[in-house]
Amino acid sequence: MVKIAPSILSCDFTNLGRDIKKTVDAGADFIHIDVMDGSYVPNISFGFPVIKAIRPLTDLLFDVHLMIVNPSNYFDEFIDAGADLINFHYEAEVHVDRAIQKVKSRGVKVGITLNPATPVSVLKHVLKELDLVLIMSVNPGFGGQSFIPYSLDKVRELREMAKECNPNLLIQIDGGMDSKNIKEAVDAGVDVVVAGSAIYNDKNTIEDNISALRDALK
Ligand code: DX5
Ligand code: ZN
Repeated sequence: MVKIAPSILSCDFTNLGRDIKKTVDAGADFIHIDVMDGSYVPNISFGFPVIKAIRPLTDLLFDVHLMIVNPSNYFDEFIDAGADLINFHYEAEVHVDRAIQKVKSRGVKVGITLNPATPVSVLKHVLKELDLVLIMSVNPGFGGQSFIPYSLDKVRELREMAKECNPNLLIQIDGGMDSKNIKEAVDAGVDVVVAGSAIYNDKNTIEDNISALRDALK
């Protein structure tokens, strides 16, 4: 069963709580929370206080995508704020193995994110430790960018790599996902689809947009 993880970066921030409740009611699986520091990526979004404020709204898994430098310096604060899955960038962390252990020692799920240009082979030795790998299908920093097609080659390669050492690994994709490309991504091996602008826009309701993504998989 494919999971849909709406990225609240594209929500109407004047009505964040309302949009999250609608997202939950529409049957989302994870809440994808994009944290940006203006240093690792050329954009600044939100941090601990916002995560803490929205935590009581739902029991859905909070998937916290950290687009920040030295993410492991902040794992404790994000977990205390309500993160259920810490999703940090391989490229942003000097001691990746230690960082993985740090998340696990707090009893939450751990994911590693790879930028488009980073090969999946860098995860070879730590793959068995991970709950999830996020393949970025845009360069991180902004919602509403175009999908990078070679990301699916990476998904296929990763699925093959994980077959023996971590058959339960979740593969997530993030960036430029919509009802036109979701099927191809799932066929390539994706389990969790992040979508921002395809879910939060002025054209349709959140519910209709999530349904359209699921319908595209039928
Ligand atoms: C980009 C973020 C994404 C983004 C997705 O840096 O990680 O989660 O919000 O937005 P869309 O689906 O519009 O590409
Ligand atoms: Zn994201």
